Amino acid sequence: MSTRRSIIGGNWKMFKTPSEAATTAKALKVKLINVEAVDVVVCPPAIDVLPLVEILKETNVTIGGQNMHWEDEGAFTGEVSAAMLRDAGCSYVILGHSERRHVFGEQDSDINKKVKKALSAGLTPIFCVGEKLDEREHGRTREVVKKQVAAGLAGVQLSDPADLVVAYEPVWAIGTGVNATPEQAEEVHQYIRELLGEQFSRGLADGIRIQYGGSVKPANAAELLSQENIDGALVGGASLDPESFTAIIKSAEKVN
Ligand code: PGA
Repeated sequence: MSTRRSIIGGNWKMFKTPSEAATTAKALKVKLINVEAVDVVVCPPAIDVLPLVEILKETNVTIGGQNMHWEDEGAFTGEVSAAMLRDAGCSYVILGHSERRHVFGEQDSDINKKVKKALSAGLTPIFCVGEKLDEREHGRTREVVKKQVAAGLAGVQLSDPADLVVAYEPVWAIGTGVNATPEQAEEVHQYIRELLGEQFSRGLADGIRIQYGGSVKPANAAELLSQENIDGALVGGASLDPESFTAIIKSAEKVN
């Protein structure tokens, strides 16, 4: 068992209007009142950040953005900045999610600029990597993940391992109901930790939390989270329902 504190993230993607988000947050507030052993971060659509921060302010639940621009401000219609997320009350921001990479064409170089900006603004990046199905089938998982880690974190300085979270999310497992097996995930998590050791130092790499994401559900969470190098989960679909999200958090508490 590792000494890293588990971190469970809820990625709401483009679901929930502000009033729906408020209803969910009120339910989470009641359900998560006693959660202390696990870090919990809810990442709603940007327009839901303010109501969530307000509703969850006296709880241990923190809030994160799903994306941001790397510039401080400017003529970038439709974008939000790191300072805006920070000022609204976010502590985290998901960067390089596979939907940003593969639906919106984000490049490693864009993600690298975002990671640096987030860190300098005091936001903890949840930096996502993961291979597509054909890449796994062609035995290219390590090569893909290595490139994403090297390019996404190039030139990034880190002094505290708590300042960065990495999420390994195999694209074929996201929203498909087919999760990676605990063994498949653990193998890649171990490899990512090796890469982080080369990038930073062994000591820092040992402290960085690596989440698994891709069809995490109450039924498979405990098995995944009990792996040595799996330090939490980034949950999409199952985070939308307070019941199932709470069940996953409770699994993490037991494994801790
Ligand atoms: P999923 O999504 O849990 O619905 O597979 C995970 C994610 O995209 O972060």
